[in-house]
Amino acid sequence: MSYAVARLRNQNSDANKLYDEDRAIHEWYRFVLSFPPHLVRHYLERFGAHSGYRILDPFCGTATTLVECKKHGIEGVGIEGNPVAHFAGCVKTAWDVNPSALVAEGQRIAEMAHEQLFLLGIQDEMPLLPTTSVDIALRTLPAEQAALILTNSISPLPLHKALVLRDSIYQEAEPAYQRHLLLALIKALVNNASNLHFGPEVGLGAIKDDAAVIAPWFANVQAMAQDISAFQDTQRIPSVIHRGDARSVATILPERSIDCVITSPPYPNEKDYTRTTRLEAVFLGFIHNKSELRAMKKGLVRSNTRGVYKEDNDHEWIANLPRIQELAERIEQRRIELGKTSGFERLYARVTRLYFGGMARHFAALRTSLVPGAKLAYVVGDQASYFRVMIRTGDILCDIAKSLGYHVLHVDLFRTRLATATREQMREEVVVLQWPG
Ligand SMILES: C[S@@+](CC[C@H](N)C(=O)[O-])C[C@H]1O[C@@H](n2cnc3c(N)ncnc32)[C@H](O)[C@@H]1O
Repeated sequence: MSYAVARLRNQNSDANKLYDEDRAIHEWYRFVLSFPPHLVRHYLERFGAHSGYRILDPFCGTATTLVECKKHGIEGVGIEGNPVAHFAGCVKTAWDVNPSALVAEGQRIAEMAHEQLFLLGIQDEMPLLPTTSVDIALRTLPAEQAALILTNSISPLPLHKALVLRDSIYQEAEPAYQRHLLLALIKALVNNASNLHFGPEVGLGAIKDDAAVIAPWFANVQAMAQDISAFQDTQRIPSVIHRGDARSVATILPERSIDCVITSPPYPNEKDYTRTTRLEAVFLGFIHNKSELRAMKKGLVRSNTRGVYKEDNDHEWIANLPRIQELAERIEQRRIELGKTSGFERLYARVTRLYFGGMARHFAALRTSLVPGAKLAYVVGDQASYFRVMIRTGDILCDIAKSLGYHVLHVDLFRTRLATATREQMREEVVVLQWPG
């Protein structure tokens, strides 16, 4: 196996970027939480990974680690709790598809969808036909599902087009191509059809009354086919992504089956990891109502106050670590001093304990799946938005890992960001551990 020498390029602003040479496959679908492929390459090289290794990403997201491993002929295993990211990762690591047949299937489905739109006087890339009535019956989402997405996430006409295309894929596409066609569609849904803007929080950008959907979708399908053709050599390298909870990794993976871990877990940064992909989750039918959304959130490490539940008890895992107790007490003290009383604010100290407890649970469960000597890289960031109390995430994770028997090899600085509230440098760093066995 050979792979290009990976270097972490020095410029801070470049650090998190997707390099042009990395676009193939990684770009099939990414989200704001994705880390860059060059970071994965760097640690594959540092860890001496080769074709006999099995690499795990327990917080797999959109499978950056696994795609990069597969490109280099290395087996990958992932765990992911968000069904959209899980779906995207599974498709992004499935390259055993005939590329020209994929394009032909896309072409056939595109024609069907165009025809259905035309019957209602709608064209994909043109304004409404003069004969079109303004109150044509457009397809829409069921009310319970629509209530789960940000209001105005997508305007009625682009939504109708996307639903027509989705249903044509569901009903007419050959099963061998269906997942790829759907992934290409959710990319076009977010990037072209929706009104969403990521900055990095998900919000609304300019409201578009109309937008082409079939054309950008088909361009995505063509790009996929091109990438698949370019990576025929490693298409059989195994990649499996489990839909599951990284805190229960021992129930998912066999003993001593993992040589290395390269991952970016959530940080206690108030990000709701289900909100970023909510439109896609609803559109693909992964969630239909509030209780399914709640079940999804419960399967994730607690990192924001909108995903905390009465019965949560991950904090018990760090009860013996005074540093985290002191940190949580400092956050609560500061809240009281500042007179902050909202429900969210009252939960900040609790979510901090639950976050580190969840990570402790993960590190504890992971131990049996690692081969002795396994090396692990965890990319995490500092956080200071909890009443300006600085949370040095990487540093605290080192203490937790040590308390569970891991060795801390080093902590690498990935990049820094200036916190606007405190003017302090926030570190995004890579905690490098070793499991002695
Ligand atoms: C920072 S993102 C990872 C992004 C990934 N490195 C990529 O490039 O796309 C963290 C991921 O962890 C997932 N996650 C959070 N808690 C989890 C858990 N307990 N088990 C599995 N996945 C979890 C989230 O859904 C999210 O996709």
